[in-house]
Amino acid sequence: MPAPARRIPHPREKRMVFAHIDREGYTPDIACYLSNGGYEDLKKAVTMAPADIVNEVKASALRGRGGAGFPCGVKWGFIRPGETKPIYLICNADESEPGTFKDRYIIHQDPHQLIEGMIISAFALNVHLAYLYIRGEFPQGAKILEKAIAEAKANGFLGKNILGTGFDLEIYVHRGAGAYICGEETGLIESLEGKRAYPRIKPPYFPAVLGLYQCPTIVNNVETLCHVKHIVRMGGAEFAKIGTPNNTGTRIVGVSGDVQRPGYFEIEVGSMTLGELLNDLCGGPKPGRKFKAIIPGGSSAKVFRADERFKIKVKGQDGAMVEKEIGVMDIPMDFDTMAACGSMAGSGGVIVMDDTRDMVETLNNLNQFYAHESCGQCTPCREGSLWMRKITDRMLADGGVESDPATLASVSNNIAGKTICAFGEACSWPTMSFVAKFPEEFAARATKPIPPPTPPEFLSETLTGGSH
Ligand SMILES: Cc1cc2nc3c(=O)[nH]c(=O)nc-3n(C[C@H](O)[C@H](O)[C@H](O)COP(=O)(O)O)c2cc1C
Ligand code: SF4
Repeated sequence: MPAPARRIPHPREKRMVFAHIDREGYTPDIACYLSNGGYEDLKKAVTMAPADIVNEVKASALRGRGGAGFPCGVKWGFIRPGETKPIYLICNADESEPGTFKDRYIIHQDPHQLIEGMIISAFALNVHLAYLYIRGEFPQGAKILEKAIAEAKANGFLGKNILGTGFDLEIYVHRGAGAYICGEETGLIESLEGKRAYPRIKPPYFPAVLGLYQCPTIVNNVETLCHVKHIVRMGGAEFAKIGTPNNTGTRIVGVSGDVQRPGYFEIEVGSMTLGELLNDLCGGPKPGRKFKAIIPGGSSAKVFRADERFKIKVKGQDGAMVEKEIGVMDIPMDFDTMAACGSMAGSGGVIVMDDTRDMVETLNNLNQFYAHESCGQCTPCREGSLWMRKITDRMLADGGVESDPATLASVSNNIAGKTICAFGEACSWPTMSFVAKFPEEFAARATKPIPPPTPPEFLSETLTGGSH
């Protein structure tokens, strides 16, 4: 297979985790990694007290890059000091959220960066067994990681007595079976234990309390674990200076859909607006087209209309909070403002739709995915995701009835918050937001009169005098 074309970073990018991605002559083997300063951060980390590394991660205010944006240091802080049970570390490399494509590039082009980030994290957390759970559809990535682990071991960075410190660590690659729910951390843990990936009932709320084999377990995304290495190098306080308060560091965003230059970009969190990302870095809409809608953080995030406006609270010059009105294109690419505008920065997957897109068709595409991927444990999610798909199927087949938009809204509102895992929100937010924000398109596909209710077959037999 020919190698894909290398991308030249945009001048407005700030590359840290992606520093070597697409670099001419850069290869995924350990010799190349070492000649570019590889494993130097691990050498520094093992001279530090593990608790100090945790404190640096806390000071960095790094937020998880897997979707929820949970502060990494806070999660790590859930591990009790002096814990007597084994503690596990799991790298979540499932990357199955539609619109998300970042972790796979790290795995394919710079696997040792991830391995180094994992070893440092394991050292900080007193972990001696770590798992790299990789999506089933990434067989090549799994092979690359296996090779990188063997190389790290051969060079004394993994295995027994790492760098002569007495610290032991093994990392195992575990391939998933290709289900979206395997990315949900408790489903992932079940899968790793050899069971069906049914997300676990909460409480306990965090695997850090009770995770793999009923032991404390830290689950972090690939990109999050890579950041740990950079935090150790520069110190948590320096890392926190990148980005904005509570939205620190850099993050990789993947832009797909109707822009002139889709692709991945590593940006300083909050340093640019959604409009700057789409117009400057991605070249704007295709010729003669206009942006119509944007999903800012993976397919589960609520959609924005391109002409939407929001009132948000920002800090004024005197430090007091003041209300400010902004348009969609003015939203800074950070966690908090995205949330304040009613959506989320999520996994960093920005999906763009222009004025050629039919929003019912687009939602139907998402609904097909979610109905297929629901694990089926919770009735609202299992049934609701299927009903939403069936209704948008019907609308596309010219059979939409007048009540369909209201039914879609009602079904989606009765899933979110009523399920075992956040898949409930993930599958209902697209329907909820598409119907609310594009009512005219849904109404245009829902014109048939509501048919009179038909009694079930056994009842109709009774009503028409049928015998039993
Ligand atoms: C349905 C569903 C799918 C998910 N898929 C992924 C995934 O593919 N990769 C990932 O890192 N996190 C995924 N997550 C989030 C994980 O549950 C977990 O929050 C994350 O791995 C924690 O890592 P972080 O704190 O470094 O972000 C998913 C969550 C849900 C509810
Ligand atoms: S919300 Fe959906 S995916 Fe999550 S446990 Fe319930 S049925 Fe399974």
